[in-house]
Amino acid sequence: MKKWLKFTSVPILAVFILLMFYLYSAESRIKGPSQPIFFSHKIHAGDNEIPCEYCHAYVEISPVPGIPSDQKCIGCHLFIIGKDEDYHYDGRSINIKNEIQKVKDYWDRNEPIPWVKVNFLPQFVHFNHKRHIRREIECKACHGEVQNMDVVHQVYKFSMGFCIACHQEKARDAQELTMLKDCLTCHY
Ligand code: HEC
Ligand code: HEC
Ligand code: HEC
Ligand code: HEC
Ligand code: HEC
Repeated sequence: MKKWLKFTSVPILAVFILLMFYLYSAESRIKGPSQPIFFSHKIHAGDNEIPCEYCHAYVEISPVPGIPSDQKCIGCHLFIIGKDEDYHYDGRSINIKNEIQKVKDYWDRNEPIPWVKVNFLPQFVHFNHKRHIRREIECKACHGEVQNMDVVHQVYKFSMGFCIACHQEKARDAQELTMLKDCLTCHY
């Protein structure tokens, strides 16, 4: 092996490994966690145009939008049993009818569907949906085009810069800007 090759191959390998790690974590972020039931936002909020607020009903009145209870699902799925057809996602085939049957099984067992949380903020950050929604900030400003996602995933990293950039842009006047940039607005 040529001498220069020996010296350069180590850093090249290190960069390659780091790149693989990066791609791997980027990929798992894009796919979102694996959920107990394959629930497609694209089929519900996209194709069937069910409004976000129909399921996330508390978004305007409480700090958290809330994940719908099984009862909300059963309200439709007692009647909508689903086509006996396969839906393809990420190399998997999901039978629509069987997947809906799983919702009924949870309901019959009187067991809430154990959804896995997708979006996270550290404990020391205070966030409240209500004020943002009242100010007519769309869901997609923070969650991306959820109606096009089969599996919801976090689109933006909720870094301090992400929050403050918009606060800076949307502030109506200097006074509001001061409030929206104040450390104690988001941390206490
Ligand atoms: C038919 C009911 C239904 C509709 C309509 C719906 N959602 Fe959801 N949503 C759910 C369920 C159930 C979950 C939990 C499972 C999951 O994460 O996929 C969820 C999860 C989410 C999450 C991730 C929550 C977390 O754990 O951090 C976001 C964000 C979200 N929905 C946004 C939206 C937006 C935006 C719309 C409208 C474009 C919408 N949803 C429409 C039922 C619904
Ligand atoms: C407003 C009515 C409505 C509500 C509420 C609703 N669904 Fe659906 N759901 C549908 C329709 C319509 C389809 C498409 C059925 C088809 O194509 O045969 C569907 C399809 C599905 C499917 C198969 C496709 C997929 O996404 O994998 C599953 C699973 C499902 N629903 C689960 C749920 C769960 C879980 C909830 C509660 C969080 C829920 N649904 C709430 C109307 C609804
Ligand atoms: C200004 C940014 C922003 C907007 C706008 C926004 N969200 Fe969120 N959302 C967040 C953040 C940040 C979290 C994580 C909160 C946490 O972990 O405390 C979150 C969490 C959620 C969750 C999970 C809640 C839970 O119980 O775990 C759902 C569901 C959700 N958002 C739905 C919506 C819907 C629907 C809309 C539009 C009506 C919306 N969001 C608008 C930033 C936003
Ligand atoms: C797309 C724009 C936008 C983004 C992104 C955004 N905000 Fe805001 N935020 C606003 C606006 C506008 C207000 C003022 C709302 C009002 O009171 O009229 C606000 C108000 C607030 C308030 C004060 C009101 C309250 O709810 O107590 C807090 C706290 C807050 N934001 C936290 C955050 C955090 C944390 C993030 C990042 C995870 C974030 N915001 C991301 C636009 C945004
Ligand atoms: C609009 C909301 C918002 C405001 C205002 C804000 N922060 Fe943050 N801060 C955040 C968020 C969100 C995180 C979490 C970042 C993450 O998880 O990567 C954070 C994280 C931090 C951290 C942890 C270290 C880090 O960077 O992750 C420190 C320290 C901090 N903030 C200090 C401050 C100070 C000091 C101020 C005032 C000058 C301030 N913050 C104003 C939202 C805010």
